[in-house]
Amino acid sequence: QVITAPGAWLLPGLVDLHAHLREPGQEYKEDIRSGLAAAAAGGFTDICAMPNTLPVNDSRMVTEAMLARAHEVGGTRLHPIGAITVGQRGESLTEMGDLREAGAVAVSDDGRCVTNSAVMRRALEYASVFDLPVIQHAEDHALTEGAQMHEGSVSTRLGLRGWPRVAEDIIVSRDLLLAEYTGARYHVAHASTEGTVRLLREAKSRGLRVTAEVTPHHLLLTHEAVGLYDTACKVNPPLREQRDIEALRQGLADGTIDAVATDHAPHATIDKGCEWSEAKPGMIGLELCLPLLLGLVAEGALPLARLVTSLTQAPAGIARLPDKRIREGARADLVLIDPEERWTIDASCLRSKSHNTPFLGRTVKGRVKMTMVAGNVVFESTPRSS
Ligand code: DOR
Repeated sequence: QVITAPGAWLLPGLVDLHAHLREPGQEYKEDIRSGLAAAAAGGFTDICAMPNTLPVNDSRMVTEAMLARAHEVGGTRLHPIGAITVGQRGESLTEMGDLREAGAVAVSDDGRCVTNSAVMRRALEYASVFDLPVIQHAEDHALTEGAQMHEGSVSTRLGLRGWPRVAEDIIVSRDLLLAEYTGARYHVAHASTEGTVRLLREAKSRGLRVTAEVTPHHLLLTHEAVGLYDTACKVNPPLREQRDIEALRQGLADGTIDAVATDHAPHATIDKGCEWSEAKPGMIGLELCLPLLLGLVAEGALPLARLVTSLTQAPAGIARLPDKRIREGARADLVLIDPEERWTIDASCLRSKSHNTPFLGRTVKGRVKMTMVAGNVVFESTPRSS
């Protein structure tokens, strides 16, 4: 079969280390079928699903059920991430060996940061027995209780309690010390501050086994986007300031930040179309990640090669997935992109069940035309000429 696509780019299939698919438990926001369809439309051939489901993915049973559902649906591959602790906000560790055996590729906090140092130390030690990276949503809750957005001029203007950068930096710096002490693999989820970038750079220069990811929204938007309480911009960690954006872009460009991850966090209209204080944090990202970041490449803010590595080879390495590079004999996990096509982001073109994104109405350049998983077409935007 010959696929003709003049002017198109052929890239390795994309890998997302951080998606919230909501199944089991909140299928009205997203389920594995709609989540995988959104992933395929976004050019992702592999996505890792966070454990803050209902129930939390803290057992072999939940991991296996998610994988069984994903196999039934087909298309983009799903890789569950198990919880670090049992139950919501639990303190005893999960059976990480069982999780790993069942197919989990990492362990993570269940959406609530592990702030207890003794628990984190044990988690790192235990996870390293199974070569699982420990992913942390770094946030010192003592500093963010009741916080609604980034602490700064906008939170002051809007009269909202602020979430200071240092809440992230404190946890990252403690965790890096623990990662060094234990020799374990540690991964920072959605880095959002200049301090985190500085800490990571220093840790990496000393050879620690640490990795990190950044989201498209933290690379593109500041707290100013919140405007007059736009709930689409409510997200954890919050949108920061220009200096954080600059540091994150620099960190991604020079490899201090390894990967781009979407933090795809679908929420129903009812969860966002309410008062700011009631609104749930999070935005969808699977279908918008690549086109939004191609904009950064076009501006000259990020080299294309780094963008591609940070969405393919780097996250695949962290999750220990097979090599993504395109080469003779490799399995055909591919995404075909029209780099010239301009389109406007509109709810009607999204496969996700939820449409919570501040990027609706934005015109972007670059569109996924086809996604292939192991040689099978799992998404195609227009009929192909052959
Ligand atoms: O804004 C967020 N929403 N950040 C997270 O880390 C979790 C996510 C969710 O699950 O909704």
